[in-house]
Amino acid sequence: MAVEAERRRRRPAPARRRSATFDPGPYAPEALTRARHLWTVRATAEHGSALIFAGLLPFALEARVNLDTQTILVGMAEDELRHAAICTAVARRLGGDPPPAAPAPIPRSARPIEEQFLCHVIYGNCLTETVNTARLVDAAEQARDPFMRAALLELLADEIRHAKFGFVLLADWASWIEAHPETRQAIDRFLPEAFAALERTLSGVGASRAGFGADDLALGSPDPARLAEVFYRTVEEAVLPGLQRAGFAASAAWQARPGRAGA
Ligand SMILES: [Fe+2]
Ligand SMILES: [Fe+2]
Repeated sequence: MAVEAERRRRRPAPARRRSATFDPGPYAPEALTRARHLWTVRATAEHGSALIFAGLLPFALEARVNLDTQTILVGMAEDELRHAAICTAVARRLGGDPPPAAPAPIPRSARPIEEQFLCHVIYGNCLTETVNTARLVDAAEQARDPFMRAALLELLADEIRHAKFGFVLLADWASWIEAHPETRQAIDRFLPEAFAALERTLSGVGASRAGFGADDLALGSPDPARLAEVFYRTVEEAVLPGLQRAGFAASAAWQARPGRAGA
């Protein structure tokens, strides 16, 4: 945590992306339309992520997180605003016009503030950001278009850190969680619903591959046929072991998630 906070304090302002030219010429119009839709949705989602990290700050302050954690949280909100700008620029280059995300206050409950903060970080960083990182890696590996690839790699560099932050935070809080077994139990009870929500929103099961082809891959659009595989492999090989190491009953929660296929 301290290393990442120090990196952010020392970091110069990010350089502007140099690969400013995009040539749509080699690509089929349908692939360009799909890419436009993807980057338009992505721009709004990235803006939404910025609002979530900004909205999480009051939870963090009330939970008395240290200065390093505060620095990283504010930095992640800034990262997401930059991502929104990158995605908006790409979407516009493709003819799109992304709307800003609607402000959505982070729900509060009567549960202890530390528990609420940890649940939000687990869902947002350990689960969502880890899956998104894997998805970006998969798309970037296939992307041949230099403009699109540069944009994907710029997002990816930050999303990896966002995913890691969740697990590092849990390690930082290990002794606090150890001293508050009721919080650990509450998080274990929260996990099945969290996994179900993640699966509903990000698994990509049943995504249509109609028309998807080599041009889409070259543009860095994720292959619909691989969405589910990337999702399940990432959950089972990265998310579950990470949460288990932090002492949570994640594998049991994954098996017990509501709506699980075959359950
Ligand atoms: Fe992002
Ligand atoms: Fe992120």
